[in-house]
Amino acid sequence: PASTTEPRPGDPAVGGVPLSEIADRFGTPVYVLDEAEVRARCRTYRRAFPDADVLYAAKAFLCRAMVRWMAEEGLGLDVCSAGELELAVTAGFRPERIVLHGNAKSPHDLDTALRLGVGRVVIDSPSEIARLAAAVGPRGRQKVMVRVVPGISAGGHEKIRTGTDDQKFGLSITDGHAQHAIARILSQPQLELTGLHCHLGSQITSVKPYLAAVRRMVGLMARLRRQHGLLLPELDLGGGHGVAYRPGDAALDLSALARRVRTELAAACAAAGLPVPRLIVEPGRAVAGPAGIALYRVLAVKRTGGHVFVAVDGGMSDNPRPALYGVRYAPRLIGRPGTAAEAAVTVAGRHCEAGDILADGVPLPGDVRPGDLLAVPVAGAYHLSMASGYNLVGRPPVVAVRDGRARLLVRRESLKDIRVRDVGL
Ligand code: LLP
Repeated sequence: PASTTEPRPGDPAVGGVPLSEIADRFGTPVYVLDEAEVRARCRTYRRAFPDADVLYAAKAFLCRAMVRWMAEEGLGLDVCSAGELELAVTAGFRPERIVLHGNAKSPHDLDTALRLGVGRVVIDSPSEIARLAAAVGPRGRQKVMVRVVPGISAGGHEKIRTGTDDQKFGLSITDGHAQHAIARILSQPQLELTGLHCHLGSQITSVKPYLAAVRRMVGLMARLRRQHGLLLPELDLGGGHGVAYRPGDAALDLSALARRVRTELAAACAAAGLPVPRLIVEPGRAVAGPAGIALYRVLAVKRTGGHVFVAVDGGMSDNPRPALYGVRYAPRLIGRPGTAAEAAVTVAGRHCEAGDILADGVPLPGDVRPGDLLAVPVAGAYHLSMASGYNLVGRPPVVAVRDGRARLLVRRESLKDIRVRDVGL
């Protein structure tokens, strides 16, 4: 997680900057991103997967600084909209290092991908094949992969499982849709199939499903060789690498993943008489999540119905994850040492909705009071990127810290920003 030191008791510093200082200077709620930690995580991936392509899944969190850091650390990008793609390319990212995903790519998504020269388009449905080929035009050629559903159940929550046939992404191996789509792609001169892709789901903490995926995907590659004489040079195993949201939570062991996937892939390919394809991985959460912290100010403390509600100035609009997936966080009091014994409290958000609870039954010092600051660790992925405009509170800013300095990466959404979009009346 974000590398914390504690120069003053109860007031941890990240990247050399005390968190209370960031709250005072930039206001709350605010996301703090530890640049050194993001970069360290990229390097961990590069070291663990020295001969693979590591693509950062931009949906976890993207801004121009993040794009630059990914480029400098030698990662590629996985994007799933024209918006993410444009942001990356206009920030100087090489388009050929970008892969475009999506189960429902709009004409604008595809046109933007072709106009900017995206490296790969990942085909997710049969109808996309002809659409993409037509958009490429008679003289062009676009590299594509196919998103295959390997029929493997994995992932931290039902809503983020994508390896089985009963969800919306990809083309199934079991019912032959993947094989069918591949045959159609091979008949399109405008499309060049470079490999297979699968993404099992998110917040996976065991290596085993990835090994099963390797076997299934190599099995399909072997069939494709028999049927079409096809040798695919790339295998993309997606992301989904789980992180610990609370101390003691399980996380995926990256070096074990890398080592065992490599061994499994080599063995499966040897058994099938196939050359080993170049491996691609697409981590999002594991790159950005633990490097971010969300800071809130306590606005109200209330004892009722057997609960102590500690209400803060953010909530489900800046972090919908507890409400969506029941994710449990470990907020802590910062800015001052707690002086009373810890007691279980419910950290509530500010939104007009009873389900707006950030953390339930978590220990905080009994003297927590309005004006205090709370820090929620592991807020770097799927927080701002999933933030909404609920109750028109404005989305929080992102502040990067590094070497004792804090700088604004994304400014707070103001009421004026919200008002200018309202063009009716
Ligand atoms: N590749 C593909 C094709 C994906 O769909 C995703 C995530 C990733 C890579 C990156 O997965 P990661 O390594 O970050 O787990 N909003 C949810 C997560 C949904 C992820 C969707 N796709 C959350 O807050 O947990």
